[in-house]
Amino acid sequence: MPIRTTAVPAGLLAVALAIAGCSNDATAAGPVDARARPPAAPDCPPASAPDPGNAKPRDDVPMATAAPKLPRKATYRIAFSQNASNNPWRLAETASMRAEARRLGYRLTVTDANNQQAKQIQDIKGLIAQHPDALFVAPITEQLGNVVAEATAAGIPVFLLDRDVDTSVAPPGKGYVTALLSDFVRQGRRAAWALARATGGRAKIIELEGTTGASPAIDRKKGFDAAITACPGMKVVVSQSGDFSRAGGQAVTETLLQSHPDVTAVYAHNDEMALGAIAAIREAGKVPGRDVKVVSIDGSHDALTAVQAGELYATVESNPRFGPVALPTLRQYAERGRVPVRRTLQDRLFDASNVARFIGRSY
Ligand code: AHR
Repeated sequence: MPIRTTAVPAGLLAVALAIAGCSNDATAAGPVDARARPPAAPDCPPASAPDPGNAKPRDDVPMATAAPKLPRKATYRIAFSQNASNNPWRLAETASMRAEARRLGYRLTVTDANNQQAKQIQDIKGLIAQHPDALFVAPITEQLGNVVAEATAAGIPVFLLDRDVDTSVAPPGKGYVTALLSDFVRQGRRAAWALARATGGRAKIIELEGTTGASPAIDRKKGFDAAITACPGMKVVVSQSGDFSRAGGQAVTETLLQSHPDVTAVYAHNDEMALGAIAAIREAGKVPGRDVKVVSIDGSHDALTAVQAGELYATVESNPRFGPVALPTLRQYAERGRVPVRRTLQDRLFDASNVARFIGRSY
C-alpha cells in the first residue's frame, strides 16, 4: 500500500522555503476575494469555508532500512532522470536540482525523457550502467517501478522526486530509498474547496486529468472527486486527460465545450492545462473567470498572472524546487544510514487574496 503523507522535517522545509524565497506559512492563503464570491449553497459547506490547508503531518512513517546504503563522502556523483522539460514546472525542478548540486560541489548528470516512458526506461538503464553514487528519478507514470527496482538491485540508492511508482513492484524503503512528494490527494481536495467557493457550490465541471498513470493525476482526481461529494450541486460532467500540457488542455477543452456548452467550471490537474483551457474558453466566446470558473494546481508564474487577471480563480501550490530538500535528504541518508520512506512537501494556495505577495518569486 502506498504511504500518502508525512511531513518534510522542519529543517529541510525551512531550507527549501528559504531557497524558494518564501516563508513557512503553508496555510496562510487566507480568505479568497469576497467580491468574486457568489452566494454559497447551504448544502455545500466547502463553499463558505476557508482553504483547508495542508494535512496534519504524520509521525508514523517507517525508516528506509532495506535499500542500498550510501557511503559517507565529501562529494557525490549523482544522476537525475527527469521525465520532461516541456513546461515551466519541470524546468524549475531541474534548475533547482542543478543549483543545489552546484552549491554543494556534487557532480550531476541530468537526462530528459521528453515525456516518453520508453525513453525514460532507456535513460535509467543508461544511468545504471554509469553506476552513480545515487539516482534521482521523476517517473512519468507509476509503471516505472520495474526499472527503479532494477537500479536498486544494481546497488544504487534511488530517490523518487515529485511522482511515485507502483509500490507493489518497488516498495518504499526497499525498492527505492524514499519518495519526496506533495500530498496530491490533499491538493485535489483543496482545489475542490476553492472551486466550491468560486461557484457557490453549484457547478458543471470539466476535469482535465494529468498524464494517465502518473501518481499526481491519480491522486488529484481522487481528492477532488471525493471532496465534491459534499456538494450535491457540483458535478463533474466530463473528465479527460490533457497529459499535463498546455496544448493538451486547450485541445481537450475546445472539444468538450462543444459537446457540453453548459459547463460552468474547469478543474485542471496542473496550471499548464488550465492555461490551455482558459484559451479555449475565450475562443468559445466565453469569459474565463466569469462564465467559466477555473482552478488548478502548481503555482507557476503564468498561472499567477492569470489569477491577477481574474481568469484563474485559484491554484494550489505544488512546489517544484526540490533541490534544497532532495540533496540534504541524500546527505542525511549517507550520514545516518536512515531516512523516512516518504517526505511530504507543504503547499500554499494562491488566489486573489495573496497573489501580489508571491508572483515576484514564481517560476
Ligand atoms: O508531478 C508533478 C506534476 O508534474 C506537476 O503538477 C506538473 O505540472 C508536472 O508535469
